[in-house]
Amino acid sequence: MSLGNPDRPVGGLAVRPPAGVELRPLGRHDLAGAVEMAREARGLPALHDVAPVQERYEGLLGSADTVAFVALADGTASGLAVLHLRRRLNFATFEGWLSDLVVHPSTAGRGIEAALLQALVAEWRLRGGHRILAALHPGEGALREALAAAGFQEAFLDFELSPVIAPEERPVGGLAIRPLSAEDGEAVTRLVAEFGSLRSPVPDRMEAVLRTYAAHVRDVVAGRAASMVADLDGSTVGVCTLEWQRPFWTTDLHAWIPDLVVTEPLRGRGIGRALLTAALRSVADAGAAAVSLESGEQRASAHALYRSMGFAEPGRSWVLRRED
Ligand SMILES: CC(C)(COP(=O)(O)OP(=O)(O)OC[C@H]1O[C@@H](n2cnc3c(N)ncnc32)[C@H](O)[C@@H]1OP(=O)(O)O)[C@@H](O)C(=O)NCCC(=O)NCCS
Repeated sequence: MSLGNPDRPVGGLAVRPPAGVELRPLGRHDLAGAVEMAREARGLPALHDVAPVQERYEGLLGSADTVAFVALADGTASGLAVLHLRRRLNFATFEGWLSDLVVHPSTAGRGIEAALLQALVAEWRLRGGHRILAALHPGEGALREALAAAGFQEAFLDFELSPVIAPEERPVGGLAIRPLSAEDGEAVTRLVAEFGSLRSPVPDRMEAVLRTYAAHVRDVVAGRAASMVADLDGSTVGVCTLEWQRPFWTTDLHAWIPDLVVTEPLRGRGIGRALLTAALRSVADAGAAAVSLESGEQRASAHALYRSMGFAEPGRSWVLRRED
């Protein structure tokens, strides 16, 4: 990408790749190679026919909220990196999420991970994101090194449930769970603020936070999200956000739970479990193959809840925060 002077690249294309390596934006004709790299990195068998994922792939390329690069080593596609810029409740700016950073084993050790990572970080900075997350799975030593060198720190435990089986409901007296709606903006913002100071919007950011909330409600209405709130005796006391993901390397539907919170005075009464059970019921009913979430290292109660529901822990997410 270049802005202003077309001869001076900015963002990811301003990054100097190692000798013999070229970085360029992922294109339509990279479909088969990109799918193969993304699947191989996840230990999945090759897809012989990529036509069923073509629409998702083109959606990714056409999205203003996604940036993807391919690395060519001596002319051969040997690395892939995909960054999503996503909105999170109570944050005024985008959060970056690196869904894929893959380098073919035959070109390991040439610094391609580091170059791809630098390219995505440069794009994320250009868009003014507040933080960027990258999942690291065991065995990805070169990526760990590249993340550490770029200033990322290990910050979240990753949880994943696949296949998705909803647990038995444990009814809580007086509790009703319903879809999140436009009217819940104030209550949900207050609940999400209970995560701590990073999620407690200051007054001059309130407008941006409410815009993000409104966008989330539109996603719920359009079926891109299935977030829900819990009411107890007429007050909204908990929220569980749930978004659908359609990765380009599979035809499966995935679900992501960005937030689960119950108001502090009412914790320990089964409300969090009831909300998560309802969310998993929606995920199972939608036929999603997997549900994932990230959770801060200090959130022991939440970890106990996820483990009790059979979630596995595939790795950790690392984070880079904007300095200011
Ligand atoms: C995590 C959270 C949503 C759980 O909600 P809750 O209503 O308190 O949870 P429940 O009463 O339904 O308990 C569900 C399970 O959580 C775990 N749990 C709850 N409180 C716990 C505590 N004090 N210590 C350890 N485990 C605890 C247990 O596994 C419990 O199951 P059990 O009752 O069968 O033992 C709530 O603690 C919360 O909002 N925490 C702050 C925000 C947060 O950390 N969210 C998760 C982000 S990833």
